[in-house]
This record gives sequence, structure tokens and C-alpha cells, in this order.
Amino acid sequence: MKNLTSPQTMQRHSRRWQRDGRRVVLVPTMGALHEGHLSLIRRARKLAGEDGVTVVSVYVNPTQFNDPKDFKKYPRTLAADKELCRAEGVDAVFAPLTLYPVGASVGIEENDLALQFEGEHRPGHFAGVMTVVAKLFHLVQPTEAVFGEKDFQQVAVIRRMIRDLDFPVRLILVPTAREVDGLAMSSRNVRLKGRLREQASVLPAAIRLAKESVSDSVEGLKRRLKRLMEAQPDVSVDYVEVVDADSLRPVRKAVRGTRLLLAARVGPVRLIDNSAL
Ligand code: PAF
Repeated sequence: MKNLTSPQTMQRHSRRWQRDGRRVVLVPTMGALHEGHLSLIRRARKLAGEDGVTVVSVYVNPTQFNDPKDFKKYPRTLAADKELCRAEGVDAVFAPLTLYPVGASVGIEENDLALQFEGEHRPGHFAGVMTVVAKLFHLVQPTEAVFGEKDFQQVAVIRRMIRDLDFPVRLILVPTAREVDGLAMSSRNVRLKGRLREQASVLPAAIRLAKESVSDSVEGLKRRLKRLMEAQPDVSVDYVEVVDADSLRPVRKAVRGTRLLLAARVGPVRLIDNSAL
């Protein structure tokens, strides 16, 4: 497995792979790899096949954190991440120290899907995500990039960027990996200790309740889900919404094919989740 740290070396390798006609499958991550990431990596490995190349990028991207404290606290476990990648047969780990030149002043914005939900609660977040993903696409030149469904709005925004900016990349989506109680796997879960971890299981419980309530009025459903989650002493809801899965526009009726999006704080840890209804 290659350990690449410089953007120039990364680009040199990707040019060679492209010249050799090899399929290149990228899994962009911020590290602290868990079973959820491994499901993305396994999908990438399978897609690449024997002749293709899988690249896992590991980079805690500062520009997508609107809260510097959150950036500082983000778990960093590069040595363990590399071991996991090696065990999964990854061809190259790209873990740059930085991706931004001093004085970098160019970025990418999306002005529709990115304005609401996470975009509203974390100003600048999606501009940071799109800019770093575009940079990774330029450096790795993947034929496919694999993302998790857990970040549903992120995937929608990146899909729009690929379409609008003509990136020759196919986006591959992998379903959310979940703990036994249904909590979506996330690198942030390590910060949920004891009672907080127990209370976090109210998020998958809310998803279960929503699935049992399809065709209810959205306003009533949202109230019930919020009440259920906030009955836990350390949980406060940032948003609960039912949207059209493509446009992410809120809908009035929670019918099949719509998507539930939710975000809540459990103590100091902010969690997001989503599910098809
Ligand atoms: O989903 C993530 O881990 C990040 O947002 C991504 C796509 C790696 C960009 O930093």
C-alpha cells in the first residue's frame, strides 16, 4: 500500500494510473475510520476489481468546520486508519498535512441544496466540503467516488457539483452502517460516553417511529419526533424535516419515497441521521 502525503505525488500517481487505463475508486474520509468507512472501502475495493486502484484520502478538512473547537476535538487516528486500509487491500492512502496553499482564496459554493439544514446550522460547511472534494477529485482523478448515505445532504450537494461543474466522476452511494441499537456509525460517537450513548439511541427510535407513521401530516409527525427525542434530558433537536429525496424541499405529507432528515445534540455531541420513509 502506498502512503502518499504530498498533493504533487498524489497527482503524479493518478496521471500514471490514468495513462495505464486503470479504474481509480476514491473513498474520501476525515479518518478515525470505523465499520461505516470500512463498508465504503469494501465497496470501492470490489468496484476497482483486480486491475483497478482504490485510494482512501484521510484529511480533517479545516474549512468545513464552522466551530474551531469541533475541528480541534475531531478524532485523529492516522496510524490505526492505515492499518485498517492495508487489511482491506487499499492501494493508496492519501493523507496530506494540508491541502491549502497559504493565502488560498478560491472555493466552491452551491446556492440551492446547501442553504438549508446543515448549511443553515453550520454556515460555510458545504462550501468547505465541496472545495475539498473538488480538490481531491483533481488530485486523485477518480472514475468513481464512494460516499455514505449517512450524510444525505452532503451527497446531494456533491452530486449537484459533479453535474454542474462536469466532473467525470460517478458517485457511488453506500447505505448507513448502524450499531446494534440502530445508531448511525460516526467518528463522533466515541465522544458519547455512558448515559449520553444510551440517550443517543433515541435518534434511531425516532426514525423507527417515523417509518411507522408514513402518510401522517408532516407537522404532526415532526412534533411527535421532537417530543420523543427531547424527552431525553441531554438531547436537543436542531431540526427534524421530511423532504423530497431529490430536491430536498420540505413536503407536507410523509409518504413513501420521501426522506426524513434529523440533527440533534446529545450533550456536547452533534449527530445527524436520515432515512427513506
Ligand atoms: O464525509 C466526510 O467525511 C467529509 O465531509 C469529506 C467528504 C471527506 C470531505 O472532507
